[in-house]
Amino acid sequence: DNIHTILRQMPKAELHIHIEGSLEPELIFALAERNRVELKYASVEELRRAYAFTDLQSFLDIYYAGASVLLTEQDFYDMTRAYLQRAHADKVRHAEIFFDPQTHTERGVEFATCINGIHRALEDAKAQWDMSGALIMCFLRHLSEEEAFATLELALPYRDKFIGIGLDSSERGHPPEKFARVFAQCRELGFHLVAHAGEEGPPAYISTALDVLHVERIDHGVRCLDDAALTQRLAREKIALTVCPLSNIKLRVFDCMPEHNFAKLLDAGVTLTVNSDDPAYFGGYINDNFLALFDALSLTQEHARQLARNSFAAAFIDTAAKQKYL
Ligand code: ADE
Ligand code: ZN
Repeated sequence: DNIHTILRQMPKAELHIHIEGSLEPELIFALAERNRVELKYASVEELRRAYAFTDLQSFLDIYYAGASVLLTEQDFYDMTRAYLQRAHADKVRHAEIFFDPQTHTERGVEFATCINGIHRALEDAKAQWDMSGALIMCFLRHLSEEEAFATLELALPYRDKFIGIGLDSSERGHPPEKFARVFAQCRELGFHLVAHAGEEGPPAYISTALDVLHVERIDHGVRCLDDAALTQRLAREKIALTVCPLSNIKLRVFDCMPEHNFAKLLDAGVTLTVNSDDPAYFGGYINDNFLALFDALSLTQEHARQLARNSFAAAFIDTAAKQKYL
């Protein structure tokens, strides 16, 4: 089998996907029309042309604008359904999906509207394809810890519908420790914990995400290589990084795929997984990420199998479920 076939066909888990980042331009326009929301782009083509990012913030501005068309439970269902369909086609057997409630509650959309629509799509995927899904609620780090606490309060009546807490949005200037107390409470409540760290921000944010927030995985984390001791620690403690190759190129973390440090991280013994981050904005779903990475860095079949195993090993699923895939 050639490597592309292996990558496409192997069962995998996706652990880093923002559901709002799966909203394709065509669906943005369809929902804008359905909900009579005014967009500042005249066409799908014009919107797509705006997807020329210079850094994380330039992307986030457009990503939050795109999410403004989401108003009803059906909108959240349709968005999630479309992602799950693509993921199913890419042989994703388990998906852990981020959602950003503050992006919606700030616009007057109820927390219930958002989580019920997303959750119903996960239930349908389970029934139809035996594909499992779980939700991770993210706090927006450019907002205050007080606002994160308020969001947690809104979310607790729905705690059976999500399994974990994450931290995303503008990284620089918003270190993990800003959210120490709210993460401590989430930990006491028994949620799984993750955080974006070391995407654009310094390696120190990875360390504080681990030592202050007590996260179980690091989202992105690629900048750990700037700190040899930290890289060794990640390898030794088998802390998984959820790496998003196409995202890193589109947001200029690396100039081009051959410049990506993925192979160096593998050589350093760090546990890696491959993910799509915001597939509608960055040029592809999980298999596109695998193919772009493997083509640029000439990785092998053994790497492919290892990355698939890592994705299930690092997933928040029980040991029996993991055994099926490891
Ligand atoms: N929100 C959506 N995608 C993100 C990313 N790559 N980094 C931080 N916040 C995000
Ligand atoms: Zn992300």
